[in-house]
Amino acid sequence: MTYKNEQNTNILYKGNKIDPNRVSDPEVMPLYLSTAHNVADLDDLQNTYDRKGYAYTRSHNANRDGIAELMTYLEQSENSVITNTGMSAISTTLLALLTSGDHVVADKTLYGESIDFLKTLSKYGILVDFVDITNLDEVALVINANTRILYTETVSNPMMTVANIKAIADLAHSHQSYLIVDNTFMTPVLFHALTDGADVVINSLTKFANGHGDVTLGSISAKAEIIEKIYNLQVLLGTTGDPFDSWLAMLISQ
Ligand SMILES: Cc1ncc(COP(=O)(O)O)c(C=O)c1O
Repeated sequence: MTYKNEQNTNILYKGNKIDPNRVSDPEVMPLYLSTAHNVADLDDLQNTYDRKGYAYTRSHNANRDGIAELMTYLEQSENSVITNTGMSAISTTLLALLTSGDHVVADKTLYGESIDFLKTLSKYGILVDFVDITNLDEVALVINANTRILYTETVSNPMMTVANIKAIADLAHSHQSYLIVDNTFMTPVLFHALTDGADVVINSLTKFANGHGDVTLGSISAKAEIIEKIYNLQVLLGTTGDPFDSWLAMLISQ
């Protein structure tokens, strides 16, 4: 669309682009709300997808990539994805990494809706045992040959249970399982779960990480190969984070 002033000359926009002669390097990251980006033809579209460029917002968005890079830096991980809520970070991760017949060991004082989601996994043939995660003997007792994931919060909501991440990570790895940690209450400012041996760290950015009470957003940080697996399902589930929320959350770094 071209906007004209009273003299019928173009103002500000040419087509749908800002006049390049009037743009300099913005100090704060611009907000990219456009659902789709123009491509020349089908080859151009394929190339855009291949280089993880911006063609369609559910797949890639510059603001979402910005906050993902920030979370990767803060969590000292290889890569991250941003989800539309903390709960979708949890559900997307578990659905991507588990398969029917698998077993999960989770702390019994987790955030209530995390417990409720874990319970729904029985519909897909995934069984979950809830334990006192601070009691390593109890954790070890329920681990079996099908255990794939140990799941805890660093400091649980609302009981404030403090998990020994290093010890639980050792236990998980000695049984060929992943340790997934929800770091929402600590944030990467206070605790680095990956450095202590966790395989995946999840944050509800809705809470302290965003800090100004105006977004729902989640993050998942891990090694690149784990994030690729999660991203591939995330795009199908449609749990990618909203550009405006991503932009608002970026304000913590700008
Ligand atoms: C520890 C923890 N994890 C996950 C969530 C879910 O986050 P969201 O509300 O962004 O879906 C919450 C919400 O309170 C939480 O406290």
